[in-house]
Amino acid sequence: MRLYKLVMPLAVSAASLFLSGHAMAETWKMALGDAAGGTQYELGTTFANLLEERTGGEVTVDLFPNGQLGSEQDTVNNASMGLLDLSVLAINNITPFSPTVGVMTLPYVIQSPEDAKTLTQGSIGEELTENTIRDAGVRILAWAYSGCRRLTNSARPVAEPADLDGLVIRVPKNEIMISAYQAWGVNPNPLAWSETFTALQQGVVDGQDNPYITIDAMKFYEVQNYVTDSCYVFSMEPLIISESKFQSLSPEMQEIVLEAGKEATQRSYDYLLNTEASIKEKLVEEHGMEIVAPANDEQQWIEMATQIWPQFYDSIGGKEKLDEALAALGRAPA
Ligand code: MLT
Repeated sequence: MRLYKLVMPLAVSAASLFLSGHAMAETWKMALGDAAGGTQYELGTTFANLLEERTGGEVTVDLFPNGQLGSEQDTVNNASMGLLDLSVLAINNITPFSPTVGVMTLPYVIQSPEDAKTLTQGSIGEELTENTIRDAGVRILAWAYSGCRRLTNSARPVAEPADLDGLVIRVPKNEIMISAYQAWGVNPNPLAWSETFTALQQGVVDGQDNPYITIDAMKFYEVQNYVTDSCYVFSMEPLIISESKFQSLSPEMQEIVLEAGKEATQRSYDYLLNTEASIKEKLVEEHGMEIVAPANDEQQWIEMATQIWPQFYDSIGGKEKLDEALAALGRAPA
């Protein structure tokens, strides 16, 4: 108690130096595309707590889960225009605004949490952060790691691409992901994330893909029966800040924000490793989902989907950008 009384005034007076020109405490708004409980929420709350603690309460963050502040793509526009402070969204929903980010969503480039960490936390991640500031007016502060996207559907076990025949699959409004499904022989239905649960519930679409943690957080088990244990895209969810907001902060405050982002990223990685397996088990044991192994170790899925890589060389900044990413992951050039 005594320690608290001593430390808090010091922390508060130190923090008041950070928000130059702002005598009053501030509350920032953070949009989340997902419901409470998944990796986005975990990253968002960790970041918010760190920020509050390190500014001695001068900055607090209000979280708005479940797409309350608009679709994930809308939140990029709003942050870019300075109408929203922060948003956590899936990487595939930032690619339309900053196409070079697409190198991280090309099918089967990232195949594990380690790969995701290597690309996001290395020089490629730094370059993409600069590119999103330039292209989209938002800065990536942190990453949530959500795991491989798994295909779910309500109709039947899907083990190979031919099993998709006749199914309507929702995909994000992302050219790379649309093309991957076309390579597997189906015409997917591009829908905003905020409309996905209802579309599944009403049978407008039969399936979708997202990581186990997201399937659980969004309660997709209520409307989906089968999960294919596939890994065509590894889902990462950047926490972005409006660049105009970031530039309005004092250098000390910018440093606090960047450091809180780095620490929240590390905790998100640990969260994925510590929770994914038990959530997968819960989907089966408690919610009755059936997990289906992709046929032949996913080989046919991989061969068909990676055919689309050359279509996107121009948008990601050239084939050399993909080769750079593959080299960072210890793999052969495309
Ligand atoms: C999407 O499918 O649009 C996103 O991956 C959803 C998400 O943000 O979790």
